[in-house]
Order: sequence, then C-alpha cells, then structure tokens
Amino acid sequence: MKILGIETSCDETALSLVEATGDFTQNFRFAVLGERLVSQAAMHAEYGGVFPNLAKREHAKNLVPLLEAVLGDAKMLQLGHSPTIDLGALLVREPELLEQLVPFLAHYEKPPIDALAVTNGPGLEPALWVGVNFAKALAVAWDLPIIAVNHMEGHIVMSLVTEDGLNDVSYPVLALLVSGGHTELVLSAALGEYRRLGATRDDAAGEAFDKIARLLDLPYPGGPEISRLASDARSAGLEAIPFTSPMLRSDDLDFSFSGLKTEVRRLVEKESPTVEMKKRIALGVENAISTVLVEKTARAADSYGVHTAIVGGGVSANEHIRRELAKRLEMQDCTLLAPSPALATDNARMIALAGYTRALKKEFTEPKNLVAAGDLKLG
Ligand code: KG4
Ligand code: ZN
Repeated sequence: MKILGIETSCDETALSLVEATGDFTQNFRFAVLGERLVSQAAMHAEYGGVFPNLAKREHAKNLVPLLEAVLGDAKMLQLGHSPTIDLGALLVREPELLEQLVPFLAHYEKPPIDALAVTNGPGLEPALWVGVNFAKALAVAWDLPIIAVNHMEGHIVMSLVTEDGLNDVSYPVLALLVSGGHTELVLSAALGEYRRLGATRDDAAGEAFDKIARLLDLPYPGGPEISRLASDARSAGLEAIPFTSPMLRSDDLDFSFSGLKTEVRRLVEKESPTVEMKKRIALGVENAISTVLVEKTARAADSYGVHTAIVGGGVSANEHIRRELAKRLEMQDCTLLAPSPALATDNARMIALAGYTRALKKEFTEPKNLVAAGDLKLG
C-alpha cells in the first residue's frame, strides 16, 4: 500500500510517500518513495516561538511545491489532462492553497497512491487545518480514503520501526513522549492501544528548553541550543549550576517544568550571565530535565514490567537524555528504542507509517470527522 503522509501540526511542513507491506509484526517492510520537509524554525525564531498564523500561511505556501517534489522523486508525476474540480467550497479558508492546487491537479494525472494519512492533532489549530484541508481536497480530486493520524502516535510508531522494517518489540511498550507541547509517559499494551500514566502539570520539556533559551538570549528552538552549550560545558569540564529536578521524588509519574524556568529567571535577573555562565546554566538545566525524565521512565518501566521502551518527540533528539535513559533502562533489562535524531523531530514519515497501522485495521476517517483536534484514545 502506498500512503502519502501529511504533517502540518507545528512549524514543519512535511510530506512523505511510503510504500508499506505486511502486517505490523515480523513481515512488515516499508520503503520511502519520496519525502520532503520545510522547517519554518528560522522564521519563527524572530518571535521566540511558533506564531500560529505565520505557520498556517507558510504551510499553505509550501504544500503544493512539496507535493510536486515528492511525486517527482517517486517518479509519479505524469502530465495529463485531469478534469478541473471545483475545490472552492472546500478550500474557502485556504485561498493560497487553492490557487496553487487547482492548476497542479489539472496539470497532472492522479498518481498511483492508495491512501492519505494526515495529522489531525494535537497541534496548533490553524496549522493543522491547512494539512487537513489539503488532505480533504486531494481525497476528492483523487478519490482516496483519508486516515486521521494522531501526532503523538506518529512519534510512537516512528520509534518502533527501523529504516525499512520493524524493531524487536515486546509489549507492553512504554513510551516517553517529549516535545514542545507534550511530556507524557504512555503505556501501550498493544499497537494502537494507549494508556497515559503521567504527564506534565505545566510546561512541556521542550517548552522549558525553549523558554529557558529565551531567558539566555538564545534563538528558537531552544532545545538544540541549550544542548550545544551543555555539551561545550561538559567538554570544557565546567561545573553545572545545580537546579532542582522538579517532582523527582513525587509519588506519581507526573512532571513539572515551570519552576525550573523560574529558577533560571531569578538567576539571570540578578546579573546578566557571561558566556561561560550560560554554559554552566545550560548544563544544569539539561541535567535537571534529564534526571527527572530518566527517573520517572525507569520507575514506570519497573512498575509495569516493561522490556521495550521508546522515546519520541523533539526533545528525544537530545543525545544526553537519550544516552542517560538507555543506560538506566539497560540496568533493568529494558531496551530503549529511539529514531535517529532527524526523525525524532516532527516529520511526515511517522504520519504515513502510523497511518498504515490504522489502514491495516480499515480505520479510515470520514472527511467531515477531520476536525484538526485529535487526541490519543487513552484509557
Ligand atoms: O516534536 P517536535 O519537533 O515538535 C512538537 O511537536 O513540539 O519538538 C520540538 C521541541 C522544541 O521544544 C525543541 O526545543 C525540542 O523539541 N528539541 C530539543 C532538541 N531538539 C529539539 N530539546 C532538547 N534537546 C535537543 N537536542
Ligand atoms: Zn512532535
């Protein structure tokens, strides 16, 4: 089955065309036929965070050129004379997309794709809608079914696969999902079944990185910046500024990161930090976040007898957190699976793959039920 994955939940516009076969066990194989991603991070950097309406406009501008490039890579661009379809009503809120999509569709034949998988949430609503409306328009034009994909499930599925098949996975699987909008521990008894064990009570881990980076005058996204400074500090043998690892000893699997931001703010308000001081702060921040993520994940893995854990979401691109987590879980006979850093952040391959797992179960979505606000079905 050939699935086009569409991801526009935040500041990445991404499309991935995946051909997958087999069920989601031993015989699962896939190949990426075409894939493109445009990051708007540099653009949002000026605002110190993602600006939803700017994200929406950029997604609308990027989608059709990306589609053309992906289909080109997949050798699926066939000039033809497709009948003109009136998408005006469907794309009434996406005039920029409409303007590019209509001539594109008239110019090319329908490609041999079997289904569309689109991120239906969670994410920034205006940004999500562009992807959802794009999927709806393609579904009408090419007569294709749509699979609504939960973005967090995308991160989970991305951690379960290798570059062309499935990792060794034993259920229950424990997932630590750490991104700009989420910090949660999810237990999956079987593929597609999720139960939330704990979550952040305030800021997400990525949000904490981003906000603290801002306090240190570092550009958005802050995670990679802090991680770079922390690693400089480590190699220079600098001492970390000690911060409290929030909720480390609390008797639950929840997190809290806003206090950490306050501690850093107090510190930098007293005197503006030198470059060396910033490195020491970054090291302390990375340590504090890493310590609590590792501790609670290990505790959850132990409580639920987990032997396969995964980590997904943008923050899992952090090498230090990944290393510490793997080391700690190994001690309790639990293997950590994680996608390569480039596939740990938002991408469309994860949406196409998660879509495939749903398509296997014939879980297609009526276009009218695509509402750009999905949540994991958690018990
Ligand atoms: O999953 P993602 O790409 O988008 C969301 O769905 O939020 O995650 C983005 C988040 C940002 O907060 C960014 O600062 C953080 O992931 N991030 C990192 C690193 N790379 C990205 N945080 C810590 N260390 C990194 N190396
Ligand atoms: Zn994400």
